Amino acid sequence: MYETLLTQLEKNILTVTINRPDKLNALNKMVFQELNLVLDEIASNNDIKSAIITGAGNKAFVAGADISEFADLNKEQAMALAQRGQDTFFRIENSTKPVVAAVNGFALGGGCELAMACHFRIATDNAKFGQPEVNLGIIPGYGGTQRLTQYIGKGRTIEFLITGNMIDAPTALQFGLVNHVVPAGEVLSKAISILELVNTKAPLAVGHCITAANTVYDEKRDGFVVEITLFGESFATEDMKEGTRAFLEKRKPDFKGR
Ligand code: COA
Repeated sequence: MYETLLTQLEKNILTVTINRPDKLNALNKMVFQELNLVLDEIASNNDIKSAIITGAGNKAFVAGADISEFADLNKEQAMALAQRGQDTFFRIENSTKPVVAAVNGFALGGGCELAMACHFRIATDNAKFGQPEVNLGIIPGYGGTQRLTQYIGKGRTIEFLITGNMIDAPTALQFGLVNHVVPAGEVLSKAISILELVNTKAPLAVGHCITAANTVYDEKRDGFVVEITLFGESFATEDMKEGTRAFLEKRKPDFKGR
């Protein structure tokens, strides 16, 4: 169905594999087009409750934007390219269905930025994170300077950006960039086990949690006000009635996402 992505839907979890292993899954124009199609699918398909993004092969999650598409760009074209990348990554970040990055190797440049746009990250013990753009005479363009600061703080971010050095998975864990580090080969099963649990929760409440937490970084909106609004909206759902009734009746809730 897709040229650069593989998708598999099982147990209401869509696993999206970026599938250019001979180019270490570098993000070219087609990958971005297809990621947008997959995001449409995630939003519209009621059978999908959550998603995982990973990379094909065991060497790389994503080794960055496809550098071969950079060579002839002028300033305006470069800005348009960054805008397209940021727009796509904002769609991931703002998805009300959880999207987890299963980082199975190099997550460099746009790959690190893609992982950071996901709601949280799980890494294999051989994963490596980096923003090596300074080696190319450029800077991150897909939100790296902003999201990295949110996750690991300004001092670590600036060192990371201006050295272009990679950090390994244990360091990423220590910095709070990833939530879990697992042996290679176990990253998908770890992501699936977490999402299986999440998928038993009330979907609208899950989405509201993501939206409210994202608002911390939205200067135009007061996150506390957004929290009050979404708290109120959750009381207007069928699932709230089902959740409270099930608790009082000492049974498991059967949430419908309404
Ligand atoms: N864009 C385009 N192609 C890329 C790529 C990228 N970001 N990263 C890797 N590739 C390609 C290589 O050109 C190579 O293609 P080829 O076999 O046709 O020559 C193939 O993927 C394998 O990469 P290679 O460099 O041979 O693997 P390695 O194990 O020696 O090194 C890396 C792995 C990740 C250290 C190295 O590929 C690298 O530094 N990549 C670029 C990372 C980067 O700067 N990303 C930020 C971009 S803004």
